[in-house]
Amino acid sequence: MLKLAVLVSGGGTNLQAILDALADGRITNAQMTVVISNNRNAYALTRAEKAGVLSQCICPKDYENREMYYDALLNALEASGAELIVLAGCMVVMPEKIVRRYENRIINIHPALIPSFCGKDYYGLRVHEGVLERGVKVTGATVHFVDCGTDTGPIILQKAVEVLPEDTPKTLQRRVMEEAEWVIMPKAIDLIANGKIQVKDGMVVETKVPESPQMEDKS
Ligand code: GAR
Repeated sequence: MLKLAVLVSGGGTNLQAILDALADGRITNAQMTVVISNNRNAYALTRAEKAGVLSQCICPKDYENREMYYDALLNALEASGAELIVLAGCMVVMPEKIVRRYENRIINIHPALIPSFCGKDYYGLRVHEGVLERGVKVTGATVHFVDCGTDTGPIILQKAVEVLPEDTPKTLQRRVMEEAEWVIMPKAIDLIANGKIQVKDGMVVETKVPESPQMEDKS
């Protein structure tokens, strides 16, 4: 059973999608051990409580400086025994020390088709504002492994979503969540939990299962 720690900051609809997929068997071989928020008021914390998952709030403002906050976060992750860290609407950029400690074991959902509309200025609703300002006709979501850059790690799954002429940032955000994020986030976790993918030369590839030797026909 792969132990998951889920990091959140807000509403937690992606967290809910993961909880639902664990409950109905779309994710197998995994269990959620902790949900950690940097924001005390995140509704995601309530979702975790309702699902009976241990939840914890680790807020930067409770620490003297950023390094101490990162240390507290790392300690909590280590104490949880997490084997995969899932950034599900987490607005904290992971520091190098956490990325290196969990190399290829942190995944993030981004609400656009990377490499478009990503990087440090694009998060949450801003992504969809950017998409509408540019007038692109197709957007989507991406699940990727986290490396030391912002939204630069190996891509696991992507799903495209149509942009409609009457869209506002909020209607587009909702459609991207419903049609893409809540689908590919659980799918990516299931692939990892079942050893179906691996990172090779900076790319995500399918894990090749060695073919079983052919039985000799003795008849
Ligand atoms: C989601 O759209 C997620 O893709 C985005 O924030 C939203 C959180 O919603 N994440 C980022 O922008 C990270 N760069 P949720 O709390 O309801 O899952």
